[in-house]
Amino acid sequence: MFGNLQAQPADPILGLLAKYKEDTSVQKIDLGVGVYKNEAGHTAILDCVKKAEKFRLDKEDTKVYLGPTGSELFNKKATELIFTAEHQVLTNNRVRTVSTPGGTGALRVAAEFITSCKANTTIWVSDPTWANHTGLFKAAGLTVKTYPYYDYENKSLDFDGMLNALKEVASDDIVLFHACCHNPSGMDLNNEQWQQVCDVAKTVGFTPLIDMAYQGFGQGLDEDAYGLRLMADSVNEMIVCSSCSKNFGLYRERIGACSIIAETSLSADIAFSVLLSDIRCIYSMPPAHGAAIVETILDSTELTAQWHVELKEMRDRINGNRQLIVDKLIENGVTRDFSFITRQSGMFSFLGITPEQVQRLQDEFSIYMVGSSRMSIAGIANSNVDYLAKSIAKVL
Ligand code: LMR
Repeated sequence: MFGNLQAQPADPILGLLAKYKEDTSVQKIDLGVGVYKNEAGHTAILDCVKKAEKFRLDKEDTKVYLGPTGSELFNKKATELIFTAEHQVLTNNRVRTVSTPGGTGALRVAAEFITSCKANTTIWVSDPTWANHTGLFKAAGLTVKTYPYYDYENKSLDFDGMLNALKEVASDDIVLFHACCHNPSGMDLNNEQWQQVCDVAKTVGFTPLIDMAYQGFGQGLDEDAYGLRLMADSVNEMIVCSSCSKNFGLYRERIGACSIIAETSLSADIAFSVLLSDIRCIYSMPPAHGAAIVETILDSTELTAQWHVELKEMRDRINGNRQLIVDKLIENGVTRDFSFITRQSGMFSFLGITPEQVQRLQDEFSIYMVGSSRMSIAGIANSNVDYLAKSIAKVL
């Protein structure tokens, strides 16, 4: 039976990790996978996470099953983090949240739930989008189509193209949006553009699925959720997938959330029962450790305040890196305009070079980024930026 299998190529993002690890160059730079790194190139555990883990270790007295929903306290805190406690979807009891194995788990659960609503549903994703979105949705039986998003030539948003495409979407289709820190382009909608997109969603009647993997990495926790909260005020039904991998630095703990917003409290209960039965057939119940850390932090005023400080530190460093690489490229005689990098947001930007130039950076300079020229800005540091800018200048 296994003899019929075809070997699959390495994942375009995760495959880079293995190559980077094997590289023996002392100058190597990892701009591949979306993982925050500090100035020393290390992905350290946040201090608030360490404290929460210590607290849990002393307090936890059972490892009994939590059930398909995961931790109730985490679900409540995660929902409030996404929407605020005062948002009408909470006060009207229209939202139901489950803990999931990471943001990817949330997306897969959402996709299975959509298939339970209607088989072969079409989902529209931005062109481009996170490399894993398409495979993940197809694996759950959805048909994937794209709407225009990034204008590669002008390094900006193709907003007119996007809006015109969304007007043609069928009312029983799903449209995926990135809440903030668009992966891979770093190009986000401004508040005015969100308003227009929400108006189109309301008029056309499609169901938005919002992926928020980087809340707090763009402009701030509330600023990054602006469009999502506006959308929840504009439509009757919506799905949100969020992740604690980046903003809590809990990557390997796999903790995220899937929230379903329904028109009424009663329809939310029905949708929730379907969601739980979908989960039961996938992984039965989510792991508990990551959720326990997050809920401990968000349930403590002191730890929450510390988390805000640590999150801001990560955000500020990434934003500082955006200016840093642009300045260094100029310093190294590059005349091409890279200032668009400072107008983008979150972990990524496209450098805008060819796949051959990306390959040369890897082969000749041990600099690793995704073939599309997506760079993880967090991998830039004061210690490597000169070498990086010089190397880019050489391949241009
Ligand atoms: C990325 O886009 O690099 C991250 O979201 C990690 C991943 O799983 O691809």
